[in-house]
Amino acid sequence: MAPITALITVFTLAVSMCASAYPINNNEQVVLAQAALTEILNRGAPILGYDEGCSKKSKTCDWMAKFPDNTKLVHMNLPGTHDAATWNYSDATQASLFRYTGPAKPASVYRCQERSLFQSLNEGIRVFDLRYAYNPGNDTIGFHHSEALLAPHTTLEDVLFGFYSWLDKHPTEAVLVSMNYEGGTGTPNDAALQEHLYNLFQSNLAKKYWVQSNGTLGILGQARGKLTLLQRFTYTLLPSTSSKRIGIYLDGAHWSDNGKAIELVYNQAENHVAYIEDYYYMDELAADAGTAANVELKYNVTVAHLKNATMYNHDQLYLSFASASHNDAVPQVSPRTMALGNGTDIPGVNQKLLPWFKEHKGKRFGVVMLDFYDAVPGLVEAIIGL
Ligand SMILES: *[C@@H]1O[C@H](CO)[C@@H](O)[C@H](O)[C@H]1NC(C)=O
Ligand SMILES: *[C@@H]1O[C@H](CO)[C@@H](O)[C@H](O)[C@H]1NC(C)=O
Ligand SMILES: *[C@@H]1O[C@H](CO)[C@@H](O)[C@H](O)[C@H]1NC(C)=O
Ligand SMILES: *[C@@H]1O[C@H](CO)[C@@H](O)[C@H](O)[C@H]1NC(C)=O
Ligand SMILES: *[C@@H]1O[C@H](CO)[C@@H](O)[C@H](O)[C@H]1NC(C)=O
Ligand SMILES: *[C@@H]1O[C@H](CO)[C@@H](O)[C@H](O)[C@H]1NC(C)=O
Repeated sequence: MAPITALITVFTLAVSMCASAYPINNNEQVVLAQAALTEILNRGAPILGYDEGCSKKSKTCDWMAKFPDNTKLVHMNLPGTHDAATWNYSDATQASLFRYTGPAKPASVYRCQERSLFQSLNEGIRVFDLRYAYNPGNDTIGFHHSEALLAPHTTLEDVLFGFYSWLDKHPTEAVLVSMNYEGGTGTPNDAALQEHLYNLFQSNLAKKYWVQSNGTLGILGQARGKLTLLQRFTYTLLPSTSSKRIGIYLDGAHWSDNGKAIELVYNQAENHVAYIEDYYYMDELAADAGTAANVELKYNVTVAHLKNATMYNHDQLYLSFASASHNDAVPQVSPRTMALGNGTDIPGVNQKLLPWFKEHKGKRFGVVMLDFYDAVPGLVEAIIGL
């Protein structure tokens, strides 16, 4: 029998409990559970992509296996993807969703990645920035980047099943998931949405696949095979009795917009602070400053924060965004031109960062959130320190 994952076992238990009045043929239950998972993963594919597995030579697929259990997560270098769910948002995707969204800006304004969640996991990415809001119909939770709807039939649950099934195959790995309510989508952030999310994190499946500790990032050993929540949303509309939390709470009220050096206390009692650089809009430059100047400023700001990560507060979380947003000025910049530049004459932030990471090999960088990470080969490996 093929290895039966824990996930299939959970399915099988659920199915067999429903059918407990009847004799159960275990093999058939497994077949049914596998088919159910396949259906869920297919529905999740517009965000998850497909898991094509890893070659035996891959250094990134299970890279955390080399680190001891007692490694603190805040001591690790964790490459992440900013606006991870946008990886397949092209003009064709936008056109296919026109009936839901109406006209929008070109897809390049919203697109920040080109590798799917499964590809990213296999390529070593361990932090995912996911932006949620209702799907059309306001019933299920889906994925957006501002007014760009990304996949109207894929639910948050589908995508979580994708993470769970990947983790079952890679039990040494720990994955951080940052969840943020996405504004500008034209959908309501109502009590039902917040309750839906709250209940999702209280479910038995969540207890198995999410690190349960509250207000602290522990050691790798406790986080392996699981997701850890970086909660950027707020349960504003739920009764105060709904206070059970998992993961760490990075309160948006203290995450100053476009901040170059944010200090966000996420656990007062134990003095846990997140040091965050999230300067995405180059507001100091003239509107027509152009790609080279925009890239240079973004690179400077990112490196200033990364330098601090190598030198100070080693027991605190550092989170640096190397990503940047679209700017309508002439000439325009997009997340892609900021990350990758404009031809060989103007390198992007990612090309400029690669030698910096290599020069500082062995130092603590913390979490580094990237756009289009794959377009500069070796960048992820240089961050991890492979
Ligand atoms: C990616 O987008 C294209 C164009 O909209 C679509 O045909 C394709 O099915 C999408 N890929 C996935 C995995 O959903
Ligand atoms: C979803 O919510 C939006 C904003 O509140 C509203 O305009 C829209 O009609 C709702 N859609 C449905 C199907 O209820
Ligand atoms: C979770 O942690 C937060 C911040 O440290 C604290 O305010 C809250 O009371 C904790 N909640 C539970 C249920 O432990
Ligand atoms: C990229 O460079 C070309 C000339 O090489 C220029 O015409 C174009 O405006 C530039 N685009 C951006 C976004 O800077
Ligand atoms: C970036 O940093 C370099 C080196 O410190 C400096 O010469 C340059 O003026 C800075 N550029 C911007 C746009 O801040
Ligand atoms: C770096 O650390 C120094 C010393 O704590 C602080 O003054 C400065 O604001 C920090 N800069 C950044 C970009 O984090």
